[in-house]
Amino acid sequence: MDTLVQFPDTERYAHCIKASKATHWDIDRDVIKGRAFDLSRKYLPDGLSLAHEFTSLSGAEKRLVSQIQGRTYANVFGLVERFITAKLLEIGRDYWLGDQNALEALVRFSDEELKHQALFRRIEAMMAGVMPAGYRFDVDPDGVARAVLGKSTWAVLVLTLHIELFVQNHYRQSIEPDGELSALFKDVFLFHWKDECQHVVLDELELKRHDAMLSSADRDRAVDDFIALVGAVDGILQMQAGADAAYFAAICGRTVGSAEADGLTKQFLKAYRWQYIFSGATHPRFQKTVKNLITEPQFERIGTALATLN
Ligand SMILES: [Fe+2]
Ligand SMILES: [Fe+2]
Repeated sequence: MDTLVQFPDTERYAHCIKASKATHWDIDRDVIKGRAFDLSRKYLPDGLSLAHEFTSLSGAEKRLVSQIQGRTYANVFGLVERFITAKLLEIGRDYWLGDQNALEALVRFSDEELKHQALFRRIEAMMAGVMPAGYRFDVDPDGVARAVLGKSTWAVLVLTLHIELFVQNHYRQSIEPDGELSALFKDVFLFHWKDECQHVVLDELELKRHDAMLSSADRDRAVDDFIALVGAVDGILQMQAGADAAYFAAICGRTVGSAEADGLTKQFLKAYRWQYIFSGATHPRFQKTVKNLITEPQFERIGTALATLN
């Protein structure tokens, strides 16, 4: 990104509009194409599910872990997109009577996130149709969004940037190169990734604009808000790791003893922390962007908080 010519921001918003139009896709026509999920293929790749680290399991059981995690992966995006959409619509009002390129870019961003939520609801229903009963994802997107939106805009935008950057790494480094995945699952995250590439540009523009309005004291509080948000994400991951390990034990077709069950919960949590926290927090572009906004002690404060999650 360093080598890009710096256009005035309105041109960067206009570029995002152009890219949004060029990549526009339809859930049925382009993604699902009349296909269904089946249980013969992996859903989430090993690079994200860390299935190879579930050493007590057979090959078929590792595939089941990748399917359970893949289902949760779709549900987690549907969850976070609720607050992302609301925040983008909220900050978009700053442009109602101003830069109409910025307004259109943010409206398109919100529209795409609404489409993603619809896609992920669809995916959940399709997976529920082929997987055994008993899966649970008991997190209310509106409740989570209400709590997240109670934090400072700076913190929500940093969390959003973090999410939209790890989406890109997940697709390019793990999903795209894995030849053993369900073709449908792969396509869902191909089309999702296409939109997220534009969203990251808008996240950075809006974060920079918002950051410039903050006092040092505001920003310092916002750093604490971001740390609190990551802690809240981790709370959800802990709950879901327990639920998914229990679902695995209930449907794998053999008895899972309590020691193995504890180990499985820890493995699910390790994979979820990698997917939703560390793969974003260690992303070089995320680190660079955040470092440019805050002081070294503030950056270290975030690092210290993240280290407690290992
Ligand atoms: Fe999305
Ligand atoms: Fe997005």
